[in-house]
Amino acid sequence: MAMPPTVSWRGDARTGALVIIEQTLLPSELRLLELTDLDGVIDAIVRLAVRGAPAIGVAGAYGCVIALRSGLGAAGLERLADARPTAVNLRWAVERVKSVAEGDVKKALAEAKRIHASDEDTCRRIGQHGAALIRNGMGLLTHCNAGALATAGMGTALAPMYVAHANGVKFRVFADETRPLLQGARLTSFELSEQGIDVTVIGDGMAASVMRAGRVQLVITGADRIAANGDAANKIGTYGVAVAARHHDIPFYVAAPRSTFDAALASGNEIPIEERSESELRRLGPTQLVPAGAKVFNPAFDVTPAGLITGLITEDGIFSPGQIRSWLAGG
Ligand code: MRU
Repeated sequence: MAMPPTVSWRGDARTGALVIIEQTLLPSELRLLELTDLDGVIDAIVRLAVRGAPAIGVAGAYGCVIALRSGLGAAGLERLADARPTAVNLRWAVERVKSVAEGDVKKALAEAKRIHASDEDTCRRIGQHGAALIRNGMGLLTHCNAGALATAGMGTALAPMYVAHANGVKFRVFADETRPLLQGARLTSFELSEQGIDVTVIGDGMAASVMRAGRVQLVITGADRIAANGDAANKIGTYGVAVAARHHDIPFYVAAPRSTFDAALASGNEIPIEERSESELRRLGPTQLVPAGAKVFNPAFDVTPAGLITGLITEDGIFSPGQIRSWLAGG
């Protein structure tokens, strides 16, 4: 099946629409959603209809065009940038469009398109650098979805897999299901299997045991925000995967573009962690899972300390956490 783009813009700046894949319906239904008002864009980001740090950055950039043409000005842009707090790409993209456009919607659209094109190129470069880590016969493990559905290109954590697959390397991927919203079970398995990559979904609690059985030689995940010391926030459960990988001596890599790094934060302790509705854990569709008398805690992300990260795969190459500060400073 040919996949439509995860995020795109149709038409001109004055009347056009942000078009996204409605990801909450995947894998049962592949439906596109056209958004022409700011509340609709914010709602799509909050509901995870569009999700993944780079994809919400690109959607946010196009959302600026909609905010500006609707006369919603700085307050509208601020609401948009705040829609999800952990992925720094969203605020980064909104601020970049705001400063370049100076209120002009045509300039805003041109800048949003530049951010979009650069994300595509960045993913390709991450894929090329990361593919060198993947060898014939390897078992890989990933958490959440950091693929084409999370970016405007071929993904971050999944990009090395796409490049290695295109180069004829034979490997298999274990995709953690990723409770509670199941991005691994619904999205990673969907896009990898569509591309003919051997993928097996496992429950989140199974990763350590699959590692112990010797079936995983490499872990690659994405990130939503990375501090200057290399601490990386990603989907809740990533930290546990990193701890298990270290215990089993398995290299743990984080793949992310420059726009996911936040040079202003000294460590991961300063990364804001989004807390989401209790209902995501309390219910599965119409079925109640947790009794009303029990409390629920639902942080959407956790922070993996730099000490557990073997390397960070970026568009400029693979760096150790200790090299990040100088890379960010342009060195
Ligand atoms: O809540 P989500 O689905 O937006 O979380 C996504 C992730 O945690 C991804 O791993 C991260 O954004 C990187 S996407 C290339």
